[in-house]
Amino acid sequence: MQKFIIKGGIPLKGKVKISGSKNAALPCIAACLLTVEPCILKNVPDIEDVHTLLKILNALNVQTEFKDHTLKINAKNLKSNPINKNLVKQMRASILLLGPILSRFGNVRLPFPGGCVLGKRSIDTHLKALNCKISDNNEIISIKTKNLKTNKIIMSEISVTATENIIMASVLKKGTTEIRLAACEPHVQDLCGLLNKMGAKIKGIGSNNLEITGVKRLKGVTYSITPDYLEAGTYAIAASVTNGEIVIENVIINQLDSFWNALMETGVNVKTVGKNKIAIKASKKIKSIKQLRTAVYPSFPTDLQAPFAVLLTQAEGVSKIFETLFEGRLNYLFELEKMGAKLEILNPHEALIIGPRKLKGVSISSCDLRAGAAMVIAALAAEGETEISNISYIDRGYEKLEEKLKKLGAQIKRIK
Ligand code: EPU
Repeated sequence: MQKFIIKGGIPLKGKVKISGSKNAALPCIAACLLTVEPCILKNVPDIEDVHTLLKILNALNVQTEFKDHTLKINAKNLKSNPINKNLVKQMRASILLLGPILSRFGNVRLPFPGGCVLGKRSIDTHLKALNCKISDNNEIISIKTKNLKTNKIIMSEISVTATENIIMASVLKKGTTEIRLAACEPHVQDLCGLLNKMGAKIKGIGSNNLEITGVKRLKGVTYSITPDYLEAGTYAIAASVTNGEIVIENVIINQLDSFWNALMETGVNVKTVGKNKIAIKASKKIKSIKQLRTAVYPSFPTDLQAPFAVLLTQAEGVSKIFETLFEGRLNYLFELEKMGAKLEILNPHEALIIGPRKLKGVSISSCDLRAGAAMVIAALAAEGETEISNISYIDRGYEKLEEKLKKLGAQIKRIK
C-alpha cells in the first residue's frame, strides 16, 4: 500500500513529455497475438496495466521483452489456456484477449475481467456483438468462431473495447465484415493502423462505420503507439489549476479538440507552439462552465471529467457536470468535498460545482485511475499537505507521474 504525499500551492512550470497511450497500447499488444511472426511495438508506456497484460501473455507461452518503451513480442507458441483468472480480474482491458485468441484457435474461454469500478460497466455490447456464452456460474465468457455473426454487425452501443474485439476477431475471418456504430477513439484508430500495417484490410478508420475484408495471414511489423491524449489533458489541467505555465510535448493536438475548447472556456490560455507541442498558461481568474458534458469521441472524454472538475472548483460561479457514460464516475466528488470543495450531486450522472473554494490538504483516497489523477491535481492546488492512498490505481495508467510532476516543480513523494 503506497501513498502520495503532496505539498500544494506550487505553480507548475516547465516542459512535460507525454508517454504512449495506455488505451492504445493494450489493444495493440493483444493484436500482436494475431500473427505468428515477431512484432516490435515502440512508445509503449511503462505502466502497471501493460505489465499485467504481459504477465497474462507470458503464462500463455507468448515471448515478450519490454525495455525502454520498446516491446518485442512473439506469439508463435501462443496457447489458448489456462488464462490466469487472478490477473484477468485485475484489469477490465483483459477482455481484449477475446478477439485475438478466438481468431487464432476458433474458440476462447476467458474468465470475467475486473478493473476500475465505474458503475455497471456492462460488457453486454461485447457479448451481443460476438455472440458469447456465459458459463460456469457466470465466471467464464466463451465464444466459438462458427457462432460469430457474419457480414454486418450493428453494435448495441458505441463501445471502445467491444469495437476493438470485433475488429480483432474479423481481420482474419473469410469475407467482409461491416461494423456499424463502431467507436472511433484515437486508440481504436491506432489499433486499426497497426493491423493494416500487419496486412489487414480495414476501411473507414476514424469513422463509426468500419469495413473489414478478411485476409489469410498477418505479418510481424514494427509500430509506434500513439501518444496518450488523456495524459496530456491531465497535465494541462494540473498547470491550469496551479496557476502554472507549461509546454506539453508529444501530444497529437487535434485529438483533444473538445477538451481544449472547454479549457479555453474557463479562461486558460492554450497555444500551439510547434508540431505536437502545446503551451498552457493559467488564467488568474477561472470562469465556470455552464455544462461539461462527456460523450464518446470526439466529444469531451469521460476519462478527463474528474480531473477537469478540480479546475471547476476554482472557477467563479456554478458549473454543471454531466457524465453521460458511467454511472459510477462521480464518486471522487466526496473526496473533493473533504478538501473543501462546494458541490451538489444531483444524481449518479450530474453534479453542480460551486466555486471558487480554497482546497485544503487532508487525507483522501483515489477510487479509480482517473479519479486518482483528479486527487493528485486537487492536492497540487490545495493549501498544505495532502495524503493520497490507493495510488496503485494511478500507477496502472500514468507513467512516472511523480517524476514528471517533480520536474515541473511539484513537491510530491511516494511513501510505503
Ligand atoms: N456507454 C454508454 N454510452 C455510450 C458508450 C458507452 O452508456 O455511448 C457505457 C457502456 O454501457 C459501458 C460503459 O459506458 O457500460 C463503458 O463504455 P465502453 O464499453 O466504451 O468502455 P470500455 O471499452 O470498457 C474504454 C476505456 C476506458 C474509457 C471508456 C470510455 C480502454 C482499455 N478502456 O473502456 O478507459 O473510460 O472506453 O471511453 O480503452 C481509463 O483509461 O481510465 C478507462 C476507464
